Amino acid sequence: MSIDRNGKGKAKFDQLQAFIEEMRLEPGALMPVMQKAQEIFGYLPEEVQRFVAEGLGVTLSEVYGVATFYSQFVLEEQGEHVIGVCMGTACYVKGSQAILDRLAGELKVEVGKTTPDGKFTLNATRCLGCCGLAPVMMIGDEVFGRLTPDDIPGIVAKFR
Ligand code: FES
Repeated sequence: MSIDRNGKGKAKFDQLQAFIEEMRLEPGALMPVMQKAQEIFGYLPEEVQRFVAEGLGVTLSEVYGVATFYSQFVLEEQGEHVIGVCMGTACYVKGSQAILDRLAGELKVEVGKTTPDGKFTLNATRCLGCCGLAPVMMIGDEVFGRLTPDDIPGIVAKFR
């Protein structure tokens, strides 16, 4: 989905423009401007990357390079609930692949994608830092641990 600079998205682009003007002369402005852009839009589609590049006088490929290098940046619009299933070693050996598969089946969505109703985004993530609870997933800020595939329908139902 694209964001219209002159339509509904205008207020957001204006807000980003103001921040770019504030930061433009600072060294290393690209990271904070991209973080701000993600805070404003929730993700960094091409039109937002282009706007940042034009605003700071850098190339689009420079912006794209940073956006894809750092995992904090999200390039696609996210669902209302973002699910992250840990695929780190401890979780993997305790069956996180089966958790991920069950979620994909339950939500009828591929890993890395968002359901058509915009409710859920399903991601596979690195270690979430709570390996003692393996296998672990997060939905938004909430952590779910020691999961079995049969836990999934009940948990998902709470967020529908
Ligand atoms: S490996 Fe899953 S939380 Fe660390």
